[in-house]
Amino acid sequence: MEKMLFPKEGGGELLTFALILSISSTCLCRGLVEDTSGGFNVLDYGAVGDGQTDDSQAFSKAWTALCQTKGTPQLIVPSGKKFLLMPVMFQGPCQSNSVQVQILGTMLAPNSMDGWRNCSTNCWLRFSGVSNLNVSGSGTIDGRGSTWWNQVYNDQALQFNHCNNLQLSGLTHLNSPKNHISLTACNGASLSYLHISAPASSPNTDGIDISSSTNINIHDSDIATGDDCIAINGNSAHINITGINCGPGHGISVGSLGRNGAHETVEYVYVQHCNFTQTQNGARIKTWPGGSGYARYIYFQHIQLQQASNPIIIDQFYCDGGQGCTGKSSAVKVSNVTYMDIKGTSGNQQGIIFNCDQEVCTNIIMDHINIRSSNGGNVSATCKNVKGQSSCTTPEVPCLSNLGALILVIANKISSLNPCPYPIC
Ligand SMILES: *[C@@H]1O[C@H](CO)[C@@H](O)[C@H](O)[C@H]1NC(C)=O
Ligand SMILES: *[C@@H]1O[C@H](CO)[C@@H](O)[C@H](O)[C@H]1NC(C)=O
Ligand SMILES: *[C@@H]1O[C@H](CO)[C@@H](O)[C@H](O)[C@H]1NC(C)=O
Ligand SMILES: *[C@@H]1O[C@H](CO)[C@@H](O)[C@H](O)[C@H]1NC(C)=O
Ligand SMILES: *[C@@H]1O[C@H](CO)[C@@H](O)[C@H](O)[C@H]1NC(C)=O
Ligand SMILES: *[C@@H]1O[C@H](CO)[C@@H](O)[C@H](O)[C@H]1NC(C)=O
Repeated sequence: MEKMLFPKEGGGELLTFALILSISSTCLCRGLVEDTSGGFNVLDYGAVGDGQTDDSQAFSKAWTALCQTKGTPQLIVPSGKKFLLMPVMFQGPCQSNSVQVQILGTMLAPNSMDGWRNCSTNCWLRFSGVSNLNVSGSGTIDGRGSTWWNQVYNDQALQFNHCNNLQLSGLTHLNSPKNHISLTACNGASLSYLHISAPASSPNTDGIDISSSTNINIHDSDIATGDDCIAINGNSAHINITGINCGPGHGISVGSLGRNGAHETVEYVYVQHCNFTQTQNGARIKTWPGGSGYARYIYFQHIQLQQASNPIIIDQFYCDGGQGCTGKSSAVKVSNVTYMDIKGTSGNQQGIIFNCDQEVCTNIIMDHINIRSSNGGNVSATCKNVKGQSSCTTPEVPCLSNLGALILVIANKISSLNPCPYPIC
């Protein structure tokens, strides 16, 4: 729309330009916009947007009105303003089965911990039970989390809970106290064109966390938050992650799974066409000792590494400050994991780490892997309790049987790749 406001040469276009101008100026009357588009502008419900006044009540009122409306109602958070919000719950189900939320301005979290007191669900902005929700716009969600980063306990910024067929796109997410975006119990979601950022040193500030959710697509986004760019937690399946620039941070993780003896499952995960830049880990699977369940049918493919430490890692002894991690006899079973076309540099001496439980990680496939050290040397591969096959893999993984070119037939998707760039096969 904005692009049309700049006419090219020629009288016809100038006329069109004038027409558009006159139409858009009559539309400046907000009542008209509401009537024609079903818009619920938070300013009409008393929001001030000066970054100082608490606008939570106005947002709640606008949401309540929208949620009672049929058709395609739209919550509008206008541009050029900063809305200070205490924890707000956007509860469904709504009358409409197609709710739009357009965020063009900035939503600001409380800048003191006191302001988060009403946060009953561990998060600041929570959408719950809203199906076919479409949240989009060029606005910003600023969690102002820095005061929380040295605390033991902290809260998430934006949470979607039981929101089926969710669309989230275009927004900038900054400085959450904890996870920036969480999906819990959602079936069907597309998250795209997001910019998520927090300082590299901020703790537990995952970009996107997925739990108990299925059929999730995350694509074309930049995530630089200092913790997991994306974490796929228990009881999730059919997760596609494509075109993500990740780093600094901890890479893209399946898990951690099986904490405190939990039974958790993750399957059918495709992480493709992603970059890991200066991440502390890259393609990671992490499980706690003592858990049960499985992580299987996981594909990391077409990934570029730039100084990514621990670029490929399976850690079945993950124990993040936890108690009683030793002497456990069970583990979440890891199987059917494929790494294909992963290239670039590691920031440390570790290229590949497979540290599996005695139950053994099975059918681990590696093909067209080429990891060098960012200082020019070789990197190492260490492995314990792993079975599977490799070809064209540098560094060579001693636990896997090197099939040379045979694996190309097995993988059957490799035809578009170049032959091995080094003389292994
Ligand atoms: C918490 O919620 C109660 C009831 O809705 C409200 O009266 C109070 O102002 C809120 N407190 C904060 C800090 O937002
Ligand atoms: C979501 O809303 C945006 C902005 O209004 C629109 O461009 C997009 O097509 C919508 N997506 C769906 C699935 O309705
Ligand atoms: C994920 O990608 C795979 C392979 O590209 C495809 O078969 C599957 O349908 C996709 N799933 C979703 C949820 O988009
Ligand atoms: C990854 O990096 C390469 C080279 O810098 C770039 O061409 C490509 O677009 C990046 N991929 C993504 C998903 O941004
Ligand atoms: C999964 O791995 C098992 C070995 O652990 C193997 O027998 C099976 O064929 C694999 N399935 C697929 C679809 O690769
Ligand atoms: C790096 O690995 C290659 C291939 O295994 C080997 O020929 C070379 O000597 C190694 N370089 C160093 C510095 O270890």
